[in-house]
Amino acid sequence: MAELVRFEVVDGIGVATLSNPPVNALSAALRAALFDAVKRAEADASVRALVIAAEGRTFIAGADISEFGKPPASPTLAELVAALDGCAKPVVAAIHAAALGGGLEVAMACTARVLGPKASLGLPEVKLGLLPGSGGTQRAPRLMGAVAALKLMVAGDPLPAKAAVEAGLADAVAEGDLVAAARAHAAGLADGKRSKPVSARDEGLGSREEFEAEAAKLAGRAKDEPQIADCIACVRACFDMPFVDGVAFERAAFLRLLDDPRSKALRHVFFAEREAAKIAGVPAGTKPREVKRAAVLGSGTMGAGIAMCFANAGIPVRVIETDAAASARGIERIRGTYEASVKRGSLTGEARDARMALIEGSVGLESAADADLVVEAIFEDLDLKKQVFATLDRVTKPGTVLASNTSYLDIDAMAAVTSRPGDVLGMHFFSPANVMKLLEIVRARHTSPEALATAAEIGRKLKKVPVVVGVCFGFVGNRMLAQRSRQAERLLLEGASPAQVDAALTGFGFKMGPFAMTDLAGLDIGWRVRKATGGRAPVADALVEAGRLGQKTQKGFYLYPQGARTGVADPDVDALIEKVASAEGVTRRAIDGDEILDRLVLPMVNEGARILEEGIAARPGDIDVVWLNGYNWPAWRGGPMHYADARGLSDIAARLSQFADQTGDESLRPAPLLARLAAEGKGFASLKAG
Ligand code: 3HC
Ligand code: NAI
Repeated sequence: MAELVRFEVVDGIGVATLSNPPVNALSAALRAALFDAVKRAEADASVRALVIAAEGRTFIAGADISEFGKPPASPTLAELVAALDGCAKPVVAAIHAAALGGGLEVAMACTARVLGPKASLGLPEVKLGLLPGSGGTQRAPRLMGAVAALKLMVAGDPLPAKAAVEAGLADAVAEGDLVAAARAHAAGLADGKRSKPVSARDEGLGSREEFEAEAAKLAGRAKDEPQIADCIACVRACFDMPFVDGVAFERAAFLRLLDDPRSKALRHVFFAEREAAKIAGVPAGTKPREVKRAAVLGSGTMGAGIAMCFANAGIPVRVIETDAAASARGIERIRGTYEASVKRGSLTGEARDARMALIEGSVGLESAADADLVVEAIFEDLDLKKQVFATLDRVTKPGTVLASNTSYLDIDAMAAVTSRPGDVLGMHFFSPANVMKLLEIVRARHTSPEALATAAEIGRKLKKVPVVVGVCFGFVGNRMLAQRSRQAERLLLEGASPAQVDAALTGFGFKMGPFAMTDLAGLDIGWRVRKATGGRAPVADALVEAGRLGQKTQKGFYLYPQGARTGVADPDVDALIEKVASAEGVTRRAIDGDEILDRLVLPMVNEGARILEEGIAARPGDIDVVWLNGYNWPAWRGGPMHYADARGLSDIAARLSQFADQTGDESLRPAPLLARLAAEGKGFASLKAG
C-alpha cells in the first residue's frame, strides 16, 4: 500500500505529508499514520516543531463517512485530535485546499494554521445531519468567537482563505511555497514563547448575550433539525463548562445524531449522488466529446430554461424556432427571466448582458449545423419529433449528440429515423429547467458510451445532477409520479378531501401537495395529456369541464379569492367529488392520514421496484436521487427506496397487499422484486448495480 503519511525532517522541522486519495478522508489507516507521525516528532530530539501538510484536491475532507456505524478503531479521531492538542512541540497545519469537518478539527487542534490562497475551511457536518464531533464545537468558538462559530456550523458552507484569517480561524495566507511558509511559522513558534493550545483560549468566546441572540434566530430550524439544536447546545457549553466536559457533551450529541434515521438518510443521499455519477456500462476513462456550442430546439417553457442553463455555464447556444415571431417571443421570455433575477438582486446587470450575449435566436433546423450538442424541446408529439430528428441527422455534423427533452416518448423511435442511433439519447430537464437540478439522461438501445459520457459531463457543467435511466413511458420520475397521482384521485373518490391528501404529503416533508401543485401548474395541462393518451382522472376532468383550471381561473381543487396564492377549501368541490364518486359507483368513507400517506407513497415504491426489475434504473439510489432533485422529496427521508428500506420491506409489502385486497386494484399488489426481498428479509440496498 502507498505510504499514507510521508515524514521528513527539514532544518529541524518535521513535515508530515498526507496522501490518501481521492480526498484525504480520515480513515482508520490515515489516523494511525498521522498519530505515529505526531509521536515520532515528539520523540525525536532533533525536531523542534511539526508541520502537517497534504497532497491532492483537498487538505482533509473530514472523517471517513463510510466508516460511520462501524466499530471505532483506535486511534479514533478524538484520540488523534487530543494528541495534537497535547503535543509537547508546536504543530502547524499547512492547508492548501479544503479542510472540512474532521479535517478542520484536526487543523484547529494544531497550534496554528497557515493557508494557501485556494484553501477553504468549513464544518459541513449539519448537511449530513451531524455536528462537528471531535472538538470542533468547542475549538471553533474559542478561535473565532461563539457567534461566528455557530454561524459557520449551521450554514455548513466553507470560508475562503482570506475570510477564514479575518475571522480568526486561521493565522495567515501564504503566497508561494506553502510548506516553506508553514515551516517558517513553526520555527518561529518553537523559538518564541509557547502559545496556548486552542482548547485553553476561553477568552476568545466573545459575548454570551450576542450568542444567545444568534441562537434565538435559529429557533425555527432547531425545532425541525436536531443537529441545529445540538450545535446551539454545544456552543453554549463553551460558556457553561470546562473544555474537557464540553468535548464529552459534544461527543454524546454526535453519537446520538449518528444513530438518528435522519442522519442515516442524509448520508445515504451523499453516497447515492456520487454513485449515480458512475454510469453502468460506460467504462471509466470514456472520453466525453467536447461541447463548444449547443443548440436548443423550441423556446417554449422548457427550451427557454434549457438555453439559459447553457448560457449560465458560459456555453454559446442557438435557440431555434419555427418562425421569427416565435423566436422573438422566446428571446423575450429568456430576457424577462434574467430581468426578474436582476430585480431580485440575485444577478448583476453585467452578468445578464454576458449571458444574453451567448444566446442567439434563430429560425430553421439548418442553424443547428455547427452545434456539438442539440437538445430538442418542441411539442410532445412523436411524429413531429421523428421528422425533426431525421432532419437533424442530415444537417448536423458527424459526432453531434442529438438529445430529446421529451417527458414520455420513445427515444428509440427517434434514434431509429437517424443514421447515427449511437449519438441519440434523452436529456430530460425538469421545470423550471434553469432551477431544478435533476437531469434524467435516457439511454436508448443503441446509445454509445461516448454520447452518455458527453451528456453526463455537460449535465455537470450545467450544475445539474445527471442520472442515467432507460427508455419507458415517463422514465423514472414521471412514471413513479403517475402512480402517486392515480392514487391521489382515487383517494378523493373513496372519501378524502384535496386538503387531507395535500396535508398528508406536506406533513411528510414535501413543500406542496399534489392538488395545490396541480392548481399552480393549471389543470388543463394534465387534461390535454389525458385526452391524447386515453388516461382517466374523473374528478380532475369534471373540474376542468366546470371551468376550474386552477390559480389562473381563481378556482381549481381550491378557491383562490382575489388571486390569493394559497387556496382555501371549497364546498362546491366537495359536492362535485361526491357526485363523481356516485357516478363511478364508489362508496365514500372516512380515511385517516396514515392510510392516505401510505396510499400515496407505497405505490411509488412498488413502481420503483418494477423500474429496478426492468433495469430502467441501475440502482435503488439512482431512483432516490431522481426524487430528491426533481420532485423535492425531503432529503432527510433519503428518497423513496431508502424510506422503504428504513421502514422494512415486509411492512411495505404487507401494506400494499392490504390495499390491493381492499380496493381490488391489482396494480397495488407487491411487485415480484419487492415481494422477494421482503420474504428474504432484505432491503433494496442489498441489490448490486446492474
Ligand atoms: N468520507 C468518505 N468518502 C468521501 C468523503 C468523506 N468525508 N468525502 C468525499 N468522499 C469520497 C466520495 O464518496 C467520492 O468517492 P467515489 O469517487 O468513490 O464516488 C470521492 O471521495 C470524491 O468525492 P466527490 O465526488 O464529492 O469529489 P469533489 O471533488 O466533487 O468534492 C469534497 C470533494 C468537497 C470534499 C466533497 O466530497 C465533500 O463535500 N465531502 C464531504 C465533506 C464532509 O461532509 N465532511 C465532513 C465529514 S463528517 C465529519 O468529519 C465528522 C467529524 O466531525 C467527526
Ligand atoms: P411549449 O409548448 O412551451 O414549447 C414548445 C416550443 O417548440 C414552441 O415555442 C414551438 O414554437 C416550438 N416548436 C414546435 N415545433 C418546432 C420545430 N419543428 N422546430 C423548432 N421549434 C419548434 O412546450 P414545453 O412545455 O416547453 O415542452 C417541450 C418539450 O419538453 C416537450 O417534449 C415536453 O414533453 C417536454 N417537457 C416539458 C416539461 C414541462 O414542464 N413543460 C417538463 C419536461 C419536459
